Amino acid sequence: MDFLKLIEQKRDGGELSPEAIAGAVAGFAEGTVPDYQMAAFLMAVQFQGMTLAETRALTLAMRDSGEVLQFPEDDRPLVDKHSTGGVGDKVSLPLAPLLACLGYRVPMISGRGLGITGGTLDKLESIPGFTTQLSAEQFVSQVQRIGVALGGQTAEIAPADKALYALRDVTGTVPSIPLITASILSKKLAENLDALVMDVKFGAAAFMRTREDARALAKSIVNLATECGVQTTALLTSMDTPIGRAVGNWLEVKESIACLEGNGGDGSKDLEELVIACAAQLPGCDADRARAELASGRPREKFNELLAAQGADLAACEIKLKQDTTAPVVRDFPASGKGYLARCDARVIGEVVRDLGGGRQTKDAKIQPEVGLDNLLKPGEAIDRPLCRIHATTEAAADMAAERLATAFEISDEQPSLDPLICEILGGR
Ligand code: URA
Repeated sequence: MDFLKLIEQKRDGGELSPEAIAGAVAGFAEGTVPDYQMAAFLMAVQFQGMTLAETRALTLAMRDSGEVLQFPEDDRPLVDKHSTGGVGDKVSLPLAPLLACLGYRVPMISGRGLGITGGTLDKLESIPGFTTQLSAEQFVSQVQRIGVALGGQTAEIAPADKALYALRDVTGTVPSIPLITASILSKKLAENLDALVMDVKFGAAAFMRTREDARALAKSIVNLATECGVQTTALLTSMDTPIGRAVGNWLEVKESIACLEGNGGDGSKDLEELVIACAAQLPGCDADRARAELASGRPREKFNELLAAQGADLAACEIKLKQDTTAPVVRDFPASGKGYLARCDARVIGEVVRDLGGGRQTKDAKIQPEVGLDNLLKPGEAIDRPLCRIHATTEAAADMAAERLATAFEISDEQPSLDPLICEILGGR
């Protein structure tokens, strides 16, 4: 395969054949296509886009870079949820055990942080002992046994996405509809699902800045997934404000567990609203049933079962959960005035947390699991306390965060009216 020719063809707006795309993905997965050439190819796709046929070919080639999980016949439908990426977006953590308790099988293959958005795998790895690297066999047997497994792409499962995802993260090639479609669906099709619910985000901190672009992404994913036999619904949701009150890997795990214990977000209901809305889109479920199951306490127990199954040290986790803070430097970020919070800019918040060490700027950067922000005040709330708390590794990092945070918040005298979180539903039952 002459990969240089493919780069040039894509750069000049040409359409690539399915065979050429399959060859490129295989070459990259085997290591015969180097990172620098793949990065150039991804940037050409970012600018030129892909036709439907190209997107389909890329998705299937990425899926087939590994195994498609094979589950035994069972009455419990195979379902999953995936988000296109947000700040404070921890919905998968409470949702996965909830779905298992609702009688679904949930083989959830997630990703790491991408750009300023957090990743489920990075969050889970802040739990002492927890492993996200499951073999295909372990994945299937755990899902059969306890109804849920949460893992990442591996050498066996969607390996092409594992490598491409990491490269896109550091080459400015994330916000591309065909690349996001192929990345997400390669993993979801490898799970052999019956049904999928997508949370497609738009706004300041989303890869799709406008609702129109998010709708186009949602259609791309829903149409291709449906064509591949997976019943798929997409929620279009706003990503101007972080979800919940915590951003940062361990801080988000804590908030997710609080949500499973009925205290999600300490009075902020957006996390729970999204968890319930996602569950309600799945065949055989509705919001009342999902809410009642969440309140039963069973999903909290299921979460512990999941942690134990994937190697977590439950005793160490409980001790860590009881600690109010685990980062070396913790300080309040005070408000500059009185009134109401009018805006909490999720993009600035995401950048601050990434630069505190909660995300990556280079492929090999190591995540600092304890850093981030919590106690975030939400738009519409009266300013009667600090706007948030900064968790950092050093005083200098906390100073840097405080300086940047000054631009994230806007205060007004009047209580602002708020836009809805869930704006539109596409596809569906
Ligand atoms: N989530 C993914 O799995 N891939 C993307 O490209 C974006 C969000």
